[in-house]
Amino acid sequence: MIKNKNILISGGAGFIGSHLFENLIIKDNYIIIIDNFNDYYSGKEENIEEITKNYEKFKDFDLIRGDLLNKSVFEEINCDIDIIFHLAAQPGVRYSIEHAGKITNNNIISTLNILEYADKNNVKKVIYSSSSSVYGNPIYTPVDEEHPKNPISPYAISKLCCEMYVDYFFRENNLPTSSLRFYTVYGPRGRPDMAIRKFLNLIFQDKEITIYGEGEQLRDFTYISDIVNGLILAAESNNSSGEAFNLGYSNPISVNQLVEKMSKIANKPKNIIYADKQKGDVDITHSDINKAKTILNYHPQISIDEGLQKTYDWLRKNMNK
Ligand code: NAD
Ligand code: UGA
Repeated sequence: MIKNKNILISGGAGFIGSHLFENLIIKDNYIIIIDNFNDYYSGKEENIEEITKNYEKFKDFDLIRGDLLNKSVFEEINCDIDIIFHLAAQPGVRYSIEHAGKITNNNIISTLNILEYADKNNVKKVIYSSSSSVYGNPIYTPVDEEHPKNPISPYAISKLCCEMYVDYFFRENNLPTSSLRFYTVYGPRGRPDMAIRKFLNLIFQDKEITIYGEGEQLRDFTYISDIVNGLILAAESNNSSGEAFNLGYSNPISVNQLVEKMSKIANKPKNIIYADKQKGDVDITHSDINKAKTILNYHPQISIDEGLQKTYDWLRKNMNK
C-alpha cells in the first residue's frame, strides 16, 4: 500500500485525478496537486471540495493552482517527491480535431516538463496516464500492448508522443516510469463532455440524446475505482521500465446498448437522434489486460451495470452539477 509518501498528482482537480487524490489522502500520504483549472468544463472546484469537506486530513494537502507549461510552477513544491502521477492533459478526442495545436502543445510540453522535473529531482517513479486511443481502429481484438499504433486524432497522437518521452526518460536517464492506457473511464465526477455523464444528464431532463454514427461503435467502458487501483498498483510495482499497460474492463458494449441500460436504470424512455459519425472516433476499443493482470496484479471488479448504477446514484444527488 502507498503510505506516508510525498506524492504529486498533476491534473488532480480533474475527474480521474480527484479520485486518485481521494484514495491517497486517507492513507497518510502528503499530496501536492498541480492543476490550472482550465475552462474545458466546469466543476473542478467542486471536485476538490467534495473530497476535502469529508476529511480532517486535508491539512496534509497542497493545491498549486498553476500551469505545467510554465516551469516556475515547480518552484512551489516544498518537499522531495516520491511519486508523480501525471494526469494533467487537455482531453477530448473529438475536441482535438479542431484544437490540434492547443492539444499538442499542452499535452506534450507539460509531460516533458514533468519528466525533466522528475529527472532532476530524483523522483522515484512517474506514472503517466495514456489512452486506448493510441491504437486507432484495431486490426484485431482484444487489443494487446503490442498492437500497432495508428492514432486517428491529434489527441491520440499527443498521448502516443508522451508515451515515447516516458519510455525515453527510462531508457536514457534511468528514470522509473510507466504508461497506463486507460479505456473510456466513467463514474462519479465523470467529465461532462463524455458520453455517460452527458447522456445521463439528458435522460434526467427528458431531452434528446445525440448518438454519433449508428451507435454500434464498441467501448470498453471502465469504472473509475478500477482505474485508481491500476494507477496505485503501477506505482507499487517493481516494473517501471518505461513500458505501457492497458487498463480496461475488457468487456465492451455498443453505444446503443449503453443508452438502453441507462434508460432502464433511470426508468425513463430513451429519446435518440442519430448524427454523423465524428472524425477521430474509433469503431472499437477492447482491451487485452493480461499484461496488467500478470505484472501489476490488476483485476478490474466493477461491471458496466454496477458502475452505471453507482454513477446514476451520484448524479441524482448532484443534479445541479
Ligand atoms: P480532466 O480534464 O478531468 O483532468 C485533467 C486535469 O488536468 C484538469 O483538471 C485540467 O484542469 C488539468 N490540466 C490540463 N492541462 C494542464 C496544464 N497544462 N497544467 C496544469 N493542469 C492542467 O480529464 P480526465 O478524464 O480526468 O483525464 C485525466 C488523464 O487521463 C488525462 O491525461 C487523459 O488524457 C487521460 N485519459 C482519460 C480517459 C478518460 O476516459 N477520462 C481515458 C484515457 C486517458
Ligand atoms: C474517452 C475519453 O474522452 C478520452 O480522453 C480517452 O482518451 C478515451 O476515452 C480512451 O479510451 O482512451 P471516447 O471513447 O470518445 O474517449 O469517450 P466518450 O466521449 O465517452 O464517447 C464514447 C462514445 O460515445 C464515442 O463513440 C462517441 O462518439 C459517442 N458519443 C459521445 C455520442 O454518440 N454522443 C455524444 O454526445 C458523446
